[in-house]
Amino acid sequence: MDYHKEIVLILDFGSQYTQLIARKVRELGVYCEIYPFNLTFDKIIAMNPKGIILSGGPKSVTDLDAPICDKGIFSLNIPILGICYGLQLITTIYKGKVDKSSKREYGKAHIVLDDSDMLLEGIKDGDIIWMSHQDKVLTMPRGFKTLAHSDNSPHAAIRSIDTKIYGVQFHPEVHHTPKGKRILKNFLYKICKVKGLFSPKSFVMLATDHIRNSVGDGKVICALSGGVDSSVVATLIHKAIGDNLRCVFVNNGVLRKDEEREVVEIFKDRLHLNLKYIDAEELFLSALKGVKDPERKRKIIGKLFIKIFEEEAKKLGDVQYLAQGTLYPDIIESISSKGPSATIKSHHNVGGLPKRMKLKLLEPLKELFKDEVRIVGKELGLPDYIVQRQPFPGPGLAIRIIGDVSRERLKILKEADSIVRDEVERNSAFSHIWQSFAILIPVKTVGVMGDERTYANVIALRIVESEDAMTADWSRVPYEVLDIMARRIINEVPGVNRVVYDISSKPPSTIEWE
Ligand code: XMP
Repeated sequence: MDYHKEIVLILDFGSQYTQLIARKVRELGVYCEIYPFNLTFDKIIAMNPKGIILSGGPKSVTDLDAPICDKGIFSLNIPILGICYGLQLITTIYKGKVDKSSKREYGKAHIVLDDSDMLLEGIKDGDIIWMSHQDKVLTMPRGFKTLAHSDNSPHAAIRSIDTKIYGVQFHPEVHHTPKGKRILKNFLYKICKVKGLFSPKSFVMLATDHIRNSVGDGKVICALSGGVDSSVVATLIHKAIGDNLRCVFVNNGVLRKDEEREVVEIFKDRLHLNLKYIDAEELFLSALKGVKDPERKRKIIGKLFIKIFEEEAKKLGDVQYLAQGTLYPDIIESISSKGPSATIKSHHNVGGLPKRMKLKLLEPLKELFKDEVRIVGKELGLPDYIVQRQPFPGPGLAIRIIGDVSRERLKILKEADSIVRDEVERNSAFSHIWQSFAILIPVKTVGVMGDERTYANVIALRIVESEDAMTADWSRVPYEVLDIMARRIINEVPGVNRVVYDISSKPPSTIEWE
């Protein structure tokens, strides 16, 4: 069944939780998409949504420039749920009054039910809800009734008496509202009356059909890096069109230990993808010789990668499509452009390719969030080792070897890094870690091994926790684990006699050292 047929729209008024609403709705088996609050009426109608959710937002409805959605949606007889700002907007549109109070209500509150309704089924007096607002409803909108109040909000949940328009002052999408998911489920299943057609399985079925229909007998090329996104894209397209998918895996010499072997083993030998392995180690390492500047390293690696990839595409001849692992957050990001920001690091991806190569883009994951991509990967039979992978930068170990990238230094870093990986992967308590890796510092220090003086390299450990890499904090890893990593690195990696742990957060530092 096509889950697009029961789409729920989320109109975004700028809340930091908007993406969370979308993820919760999808976890509940309902496909949804986020759009800016001012999406036109025609576009909304064209999508024929089963329900509309109005998100929270930082503005006050009493501001002159308060964002407003097209008021026509309130006459469509489509269920609407306003959350926080969404509730306040409904209130003003229906001639109620919103109080711009000077006091902010933030954090835990308790709900008390005033009337029974499908929206709050399963919720009882005293249940915890999470508030984060300044404004609140002072006079009820016309034709509405109060369903519940809280300690500080006399109208914490409201509904229109005659239509299916609802509002809640609290945030059901955050996990601090323990029964929030139940409320969203009530809205979706009891009020919007969806069937719940969206699941990783239905996604795979629909996506493979769609790929088959749009590509036909055409050929698709995909740069496979072994990271989660490109691995899932490649496996999905392979399922749809088999060997008409041509994957190219470039060994740029700055991969983690054994990575090239593992990727070829999984995708070529086990999953039987049409994979071309290109050993370009020598090319990359000679281009990087003597280069110390991190941005130059990035540019060299990015350019060389594109050159090799283009050459391969040409050799393959009749390729019409380029597959990319674009995800939904990338799309939302580009719709709600945040304006110019300083380039801290020029992160490269294959984004520069299509224009020059005149290939049509195939982006089958562009409807999914990262955690959904992982579930789809599992559904497609990819091993945990791939699906749960940490992000790994395109320029690889080149930006983790501070200064010159030589074969000798690469060997040291690969060994040290594989010990960190080994210790983190074997410990399930670390599944929440965002990234963990080793860095080779261009400094030698004195040590003593046996009775001998040593003068050798320093390895830094970087283990961070993060939601999205925009901010990160160093992980409070137990001393025992750090101890094991340090001992193993010093004992097992020739040329290292000291290990240090990086305790800087981002900002002001960054995750990578270069
Ligand atoms: P920073 O170091 O900027 O890293 O805090 C944020 C995230 O981006 C990754 N990263 C890169 N990824 N090309 C990439 O594909 C790059 O040049 C690059 N530099 C950093 C980094 O590993 C972290 O996940």
